[in-house]
Amino acid sequence: MRVLVTGAGGRLGRVVLPRLRAEGWDVRATSRRARTGSSVRWVVVDLATGEGLAEAVAGVDAVLHLASAPNRGRQTHRVDVLGTRRLVVAAGQAGVRHLVYVSIVGVDRVPIPYYRHKLAAEQVVAAGTVPWTVLRATQFPEFLDGMLRGASRLGPVLGDPAVLAQPVDPGEVADRLVRRLTVGPLRGIEEYGGPEVLRFDDAVHSWTAARRSRRPLLPIRIPGRLGHALRSGGLITAATPTGTRTWADHLADTYGGTGAR
Ligand SMILES: NC(=O)c1ccc[n+]([C@@H]2O[C@H](COP(=O)([O-])OP(=O)(O)OC[C@H]3O[C@@H](n4cnc5c(N)ncnc54)[C@H](OP(=O)(O)O)[C@@H]3O)[C@@H](O)[C@H]2O)c1
Repeated sequence: MRVLVTGAGGRLGRVVLPRLRAEGWDVRATSRRARTGSSVRWVVVDLATGEGLAEAVAGVDAVLHLASAPNRGRQTHRVDVLGTRRLVVAAGQAGVRHLVYVSIVGVDRVPIPYYRHKLAAEQVVAAGTVPWTVLRATQFPEFLDGMLRGASRLGPVLGDPAVLAQPVDPGEVADRLVRRLTVGPLRGIEEYGGPEVLRFDDAVHSWTAARRSRRPLLPIRIPGRLGHALRSGGLITAATPTGTRTWADHLADTYGGTGAR
């Protein structure tokens, strides 16, 4: 069985490729630049223009669609919405039997512009002719880590203490995706989150402790619908099973013993 993985060089793609190979999939991987690798065949595809798409989907049984251009305004629309439509049409013409799209828990609840594009892309996938599955994952810990670095650029960590998050390890999301590919199309949406729900203030305290930093949390209240959605659990899911790797595991792997800042 052959699978095409879009955005295969990204954070999730890098951990999904070896798992697909281990399960015996013949893997074709896309990037906008030419790449080489011994265990997968790389093809150049640009979803914003459609370059390389028809050749990429030819002869594949399934597509795992990871490519995305977050928070880039019009480019996000071009890649995530129009690019997904191009992919769905090309895959339909090529007789692909299953398309798995990776989305984010909360795209239907949290008013963030990027999420509107992800939700629109989900709808494109669901309206297409290719049997489909949407897997909505919660945030990767690396994303939360990067966000905290950004939020502490000026010294203290700026944030709304009551925002709820449920970080999930991308390797465990990758396992789930491979399983979903093997099982076949759900024609529906599945959610997948990490093992624990964290308040932002707790996440900050463990983050600063792991980094041996004394930066305090400077509490702010995110206003309006966005703040309400984030505080009332818009980013978390009650779906089971969940991943098993915790925020503390991520911190230990990333900062354990070194005190790196
Ligand atoms: N990060 C999170 O916390 C999180 C949580 C839940 C779900 N997700 C979803 O999981 C998916 C993968 O996330 P990730 O963190 O692995 O993303 P990532 O590291 O940003 O990788 C996305 C990839 O998309 C490709 N891409 C960008 N523009 C493109 C274009 N015009 N045409 C074709 N490919 C393009 C890029 O590949 P090249 O540069 O090689 O072309 C990039 O490596 C995304 O759909 C994201 O929304 C992410």
